[in-house]
Amino acid sequence: MPRQSHTQDGKESRRQFLKTTGALAAGSYLIGRRSARAQQGSKETLAMNGGAKTVTSASAANAAKWPLYGEAEDKAMLELVKNPGYGALGALEDDWKKAFGFPYAKSHCNGTSAITAMFFALGLPPGSEIMVPSSTFFATIVPMRLFGLVPVFVDIHPRTLNFDLEDAKKRLTKNTKAVLPVHWFGLPCEMDHICEWADEKGLIVLEDACHAHGASLKGKAMGNWGRMGAFSFQMSKPLPAIEGGMGVYQNQADYEKATTFGHYEAPATFPESSACRRYGGTGLGMKLRMHPMAAALARCQLKGLKERNAAGAAQVRRLNDRLVQLPGLSEQTYGRKDMDRLYYANNMLFLDEKEAGMSRAACVKALEAEGVAASAYSYRLQHKCTLYSEAQWWHHLPTIPELPGSEQANATAIALPYFTSDVPELVDQYAKAFEKVWAHRKELA
Ligand SMILES: Cc1ncc(COP(=O)(O)O)c(C=O)c1O
Repeated sequence: MPRQSHTQDGKESRRQFLKTTGALAAGSYLIGRRSARAQQGSKETLAMNGGAKTVTSASAANAAKWPLYGEAEDKAMLELVKNPGYGALGALEDDWKKAFGFPYAKSHCNGTSAITAMFFALGLPPGSEIMVPSSTFFATIVPMRLFGLVPVFVDIHPRTLNFDLEDAKKRLTKNTKAVLPVHWFGLPCEMDHICEWADEKGLIVLEDACHAHGASLKGKAMGNWGRMGAFSFQMSKPLPAIEGGMGVYQNQADYEKATTFGHYEAPATFPESSACRRYGGTGLGMKLRMHPMAAALARCQLKGLKERNAAGAAQVRRLNDRLVQLPGLSEQTYGRKDMDRLYYANNMLFLDEKEAGMSRAACVKALEAEGVAASAYSYRLQHKCTLYSEAQWWHHLPTIPELPGSEQANATAIALPYFTSDVPELVDQYAKAFEKVWAHRKELA
């Protein structure tokens, strides 16, 4: 399927999608269904105006509970208390490689340390620049400075929340050596297009896969597209170990270098020919070992990961298939069929205020009154943080750009919780609440 083009309001992209899939006829059917649903909802008074609340299901209280640990985790923890040791670390690395086909993997104490070790392993000269979205967690960017690396802030697409390749193309400098896309909330970046461009320009591809445990594009797991990648096992993540992380590597030299940075005992186990072997017993200064309890938790959670991801995504589909029929409401997607995404923390929606005929604030307020745990989403943009404007911390100051896609995302996104258990009644009530609010959108305008 050809790459889908997006416009700022997402309207064109839907039209394009219908066209490319030859489903224009379905469009008029959907419009018919949209207005039918809107009619249905209009009979009831909005909860914010004294009507009955739509979301009443008792399952709402625990529907987004995470992490979900059970007997297996209890047993694994008890076992480790009785027999302390580090065996779970190597076992988890083996499990992780096997589960997604990573050639090399090293467990770290968290995602931040896996990313830091990845930057070290690059061995780039100070002053080298790495393209990275500004709309990400600090850990994707700030460790760069420890090695004289400097971020080039790239915009995100406001409807995917992911690395905007077209924007990156405009920001390439003579010092740019690598790109570091982030698969936000489990939606894979278009790594096929990114890798193609990076190859053409001689750039190294890295991945922040801290939200994308088991997501894939064209059948290839996220983390396997770049030369190196990092996962977080922090407790909100799809593979929760309370705290933990994993670096993944396509080649042995990177694996050994990243490992040597924070694992003093490991180099002695490398082959005689390894350039890092001589650092056995000293490492290179950090101790970034994962806690074995975290590794044991991660191993338990890995057992059901694929099934949990699939069930969660299927449930989001049941909700979003109804929600995206409402005028002006869209979801975080590329509309590509060759992507296998997962969800984590939030189910992200976007409101085109003009098309919907109401503001995000009014919409969220009405939804909240109906009992929907909706919120106006706004993520901290790194390029606006003080750290990036103080020369003392950087080899050279990063350029602080205008990033309209990131701003638009923050102005239009609505976050719903991601339901981590099977809650059909709640899903139906959420959809009904949206339909009811949409039926009243003229009065909310
Ligand atoms: C995109 C992203 N990168 C990196 C990290 C860092 O992971 P950790 O919290 O395990 O250090 C996180 C954690 O929230 C993240 O969201």
